[in-house]
Amino acid sequence: MIAPAPTPAHSGPMVPSAKLARWVDKMTALCAPESVVWCDGSEEENQRLLDGMIASGTLIRLNSEKRPNSFLARSDPSDVARVEDRTFICSRIKEDAGPTNNWRDPKAMKEVLARLFSGCMRGRTMFVVPFCMGPLGSPLSRIGVQLTDSPYVVVSMRIMARMGRAALEQLGDDDFVACLHSVGAPLDPGDTDVPWPCNRENKYIVHFPEERAIWSFGSGYGGNALLGKKCFALRIASTMAREEGWMAEHMLILGVEDPTGEKTYLAGAFPSACGKTNFAMLIPPESYSGWKVTTVGDDIAWIRPGPDGRLYAINPEAGYFGVAPGTSAATNPNAMAACSANTIFTNVALTPDGDVWWEDMTHEPPPELIDWQGQPWTPSCGRRAAHPNARFTCPACQNPGIDPEWENPRGVPISAFVFGGRRNSLVPLVFQAFNWSHGVYLGATMGSEMTAAAAGTIGQVRRDPMAMLPFCGYHMADYFNHWLNIGRHNPNPPRIFHVNWFRKDSGGKFLWPGFRENMRVLEWIVRRVHGRAYAIEGPLGWMPRHEDINWEGADSLAEERFAELMAVDCEGWKGEALSQGELFLKLYDKLPKEFLLERDLLISRLWRSPQFWNLSSGGRPPR
Ligand code: GTP
Ligand code: SPV
Ligand code: MN
Repeated sequence: MIAPAPTPAHSGPMVPSAKLARWVDKMTALCAPESVVWCDGSEEENQRLLDGMIASGTLIRLNSEKRPNSFLARSDPSDVARVEDRTFICSRIKEDAGPTNNWRDPKAMKEVLARLFSGCMRGRTMFVVPFCMGPLGSPLSRIGVQLTDSPYVVVSMRIMARMGRAALEQLGDDDFVACLHSVGAPLDPGDTDVPWPCNRENKYIVHFPEERAIWSFGSGYGGNALLGKKCFALRIASTMAREEGWMAEHMLILGVEDPTGEKTYLAGAFPSACGKTNFAMLIPPESYSGWKVTTVGDDIAWIRPGPDGRLYAINPEAGYFGVAPGTSAATNPNAMAACSANTIFTNVALTPDGDVWWEDMTHEPPPELIDWQGQPWTPSCGRRAAHPNARFTCPACQNPGIDPEWENPRGVPISAFVFGGRRNSLVPLVFQAFNWSHGVYLGATMGSEMTAAAAGTIGQVRRDPMAMLPFCGYHMADYFNHWLNIGRHNPNPPRIFHVNWFRKDSGGKFLWPGFRENMRVLEWIVRRVHGRAYAIEGPLGWMPRHEDINWEGADSLAEERFAELMAVDCEGWKGEALSQGELFLKLYDKLPKEFLLERDLLISRLWRSPQFWNLSSGGRPPR
């Protein structure tokens, strides 16, 4: 076994279990790194890695007065987002991965990977990174160990998870999720010291769900490389969760406190770059005195039935890997505060005074910048300053709106689920499911326009069930059944809502102001949960009338505009029902019967409604 690297004298050596030591030895023999460093997560270690990356050009230190202890990384232009077509679920049986995942035979894939990883760390350091997903000491937490040749990944994992000595101690002799990662940079001399090593041609993000193992090759960016996040906490965890009776979801978790002090927690699934971070950090409008929204998590929720039968959620992460463009003091002040220090920015622009900038951070762009690719930039140059998927990586505890219970080892009780896609037409601002199975159907049939968070076509609508299409580690229809089951065993399951902040008018402008104004929708949701708000039965679900929403302090939200936001184009919705059917065809052999019934009910409600159903025609059958 290779001896753990020296650690600070006061804390003693890190002692792995025999199982862990054996695995590290085996992977060391395969990858052939020059050295192996066991990461303890200490500040000294962190500073040493940061200094090394500044020396090698991977990081630029930002102005310490403006952004203390913060850094800019510029990725390779080929390595800027998740790569869904290079992401594989290698279950033993193909059917277990289902038709929405890329499947490969695990043995055949292991052979391919063994060739790729063989000697891939020659001349580089392999870091051993133990990490805990979830609060230390929580029975809901799980441990992983990532081996990586990227120091950028190590310092990012330290922000995003409870990393180092404490995680190793918590692991003891138990099983861990084995995460092997290499940037897979070509080994020719001259290529080894590039600022952002990666493999431009060959990327593999591979999951072995039965073995609880992840092998990731060729990318150093985000969800491809920070393996605790999407690979472990969603794809592997979703398979664990199904076996063990819990849920691993692509969801924010927020708390709402009303003026009487009553606290309501809800969880929301929105696809990548569709508003989870912003919703989780919402600051209510001025008129909402006495109301407070607090953040438990902004991207992932692990949810489990508690002893009282309610569902309890923890945030398995310890940091935010948030979308930078669009984030501003006006749209998300809590995020701006969270990334004001101790933050790693990736693919944003650099200002002449050593700070960062991205599109819409300020109303007026600075007169000159260095863009995300290191090129001089001016407002008129016609290029973007920041990459659309540029991100900040910062500790969650820096969010001024963090919920006091965010590290509660038992989690927080969830009263509602909110699903929301990015839809420029058809989908109303908000409606509530009739019941659990209808709500699960709404989540399962959610559509959303694709964003820059994944490489591929941007703007095209695709079905993204529960925002989990890229993240479910098993057959999507089994996942639907698991959701239905959670409700079957719960006499009072959370209420389910659907929202869309992104509906546009005929001129292509957002109909809804969004951001903090989403509080008005959130308040209606909270009042519905407690049985204190009115709604009428629309073709899609329960809908608020104009007078059911609190408009205090709002200026430009005329009744006609609200009607436009809430209108249901029943002809258009028949097309939507057809397109939902396409997903169902793909999953037909395992599709829950409830879904076929729900779809029929939807069609029959559309059939008996006027062609353009709106709140004033609502409730009245066509003549
Ligand atoms: P991932 O981290 O990729 O999972 O994304 P996310 O769901 O956390 O998305 P995020 O909150 O970072 O928002 C993505 C983009 O949508 C940003 O550019 C936001 O400014 C924008 N956005 C968020 N909420 C709203 C809203 O209510 N209205 C509008 N118009 N844009 C929004
Ligand atoms: C997403 O794409 O949903 C993200 C960013 O949250 S990543 O970590 O890259 O998956
Ligand atoms: Mn996400």
